[in-house]
Amino acid sequence: MASAPQPIAVIGTGYVGLVTAAGFAELGSEVWCVDVDADKIERLKRGEIPIYEPGLAESVARNAGRLHFSTELSSALEHARLLFVAVGTPPTYSGDADLSAVHAVVESMPRSDHHALVMKSTVPVGTGASIKRIFSEHGKDGSAYVSCPEFLKEGSALQDFLEPDRVVVGDDGNWAGDAVVELYEPLNAPVVRTDIASAEMVKLAANAFLATKISFINEIANVCEETGADVLEVARGMGLDQRIGGHFLKPGIGFGGSCFPKDVSALKQLAGNSGYHFQLLTAVIEVNELQKRRVIGKLQKHLGTLVGRRVALLGLAFKANTDDMREASSLVLAARLQADGATVTAYDPIAEDEARKRMRGVQFADSALGALEGADAAILVTEWPEFAELDWSEVKQRMAGDLLVDGRNFADREAVQGAGFIYEGIGR
Ligand SMILES: NC(=O)c1ccc[n+]([C@@H]2O[C@H](COP(=O)([O-])OP(=O)(O)OC[C@H]3O[C@@H](n4cnc5c(N)ncnc54)[C@H](O)[C@@H]3O)[C@@H](O)[C@H]2O)c1
Repeated sequence: MASAPQPIAVIGTGYVGLVTAAGFAELGSEVWCVDVDADKIERLKRGEIPIYEPGLAESVARNAGRLHFSTELSSALEHARLLFVAVGTPPTYSGDADLSAVHAVVESMPRSDHHALVMKSTVPVGTGASIKRIFSEHGKDGSAYVSCPEFLKEGSALQDFLEPDRVVVGDDGNWAGDAVVELYEPLNAPVVRTDIASAEMVKLAANAFLATKISFINEIANVCEETGADVLEVARGMGLDQRIGGHFLKPGIGFGGSCFPKDVSALKQLAGNSGYHFQLLTAVIEVNELQKRRVIGKLQKHLGTLVGRRVALLGLAFKANTDDMREASSLVLAARLQADGATVTAYDPIAEDEARKRMRGVQFADSALGALEGADAAILVTEWPEFAELDWSEVKQRMAGDLLVDGRNFADREAVQGAGFIYEGIGR
């Protein structure tokens, strides 16, 4: 009989940490989860899931017997050799990654010959080398280090964990790298076993490339608007070319979320700090910032001034199937609209609580129709499936105006126009 997979620890129980913990528990490991947020740990102990992620609550409940939650590292150290680190690495004011949480974990490591830090957090290239140097300076040479970047997408995170396109393991060729590879073996995914710096770069380069694809198609969309082409037809024609591929060729109101904006900036800063000016990424970031604001121009084209206008935002989360509001385009939009004198109403089926923490002066409604009531214009911000079900004739009766700006090219244009709306998509 095959022996049970080894127990592990996960430090940081946010989107990545909790999914990693649930995922390895699904594969049979005992998982010792640690977080500095005592409130979060208490909720997890009660079986409450602090974030919205499809399938996660069920998975945590199913594996409750294998998942242990604590604010203390001691039990984790006692039971597990591999400590997966999934703490946040948010951007600093300069755009560099803030590694203070990572360093707090490094400092809390005891002297030990049989523990390894396995870095899931996204960190600049060179972080592994500097952590190993710190280990050495503090007499913790016995601790091993593995870079194992995470590629999951919020909204399908657990599925992505269980069915990864690849697993990247960067290490010095010691026991810890072997142990990480062994843990992932049941998933039958291609494994890229490499050095630590290359593993760190794979993550940053992959996200920067995807962000580049989005900014590229957004610029094509903007040119389509000037020339009469339909960007959806263009993206379809491009995407069928296997050298290009159809993923991430969806024009919209710019990328947001907790990863792309910060990881693109972090790579640009990393390059700059190393003496290389990464020109392409400068453009990717700028295009994205401008894209978020183009919607305002579309409103002004039809409404003239926005002073005193009522504008409804349909969806607030940075994408569907998540409650994550970090760097969501809706934050920029709401602020711009208010600065131009408009009143903003909003509805999001899941992200309202997170949105309330980050937005000021926005009137939140309990339903899409509630937000649309009396609005001069509506902006479809997040492609929540329920917005595809809207009865646009009813919406038309509720609204004061007749303008829909579809920031995701998500609504049925013919149905919207058929109900008497002016429809403004992106790039068509
Ligand atoms: N969210 C994603 O889609 C995603 C995908 C791939 C990679 N990543 C990367 O994974 C990392 C984590 O991202 P996230 O979205 O899960 O962040 P998050 O903010 O949701 O979670 C981070 C957690 O770490 C905890 N924490 C902070 N300092 C700690 C410490 N010293 N000890 C223990 N716990 C601590 C926080 O309380 C929080 O619960 C980041 O580097 C991110 O770039 C995120």
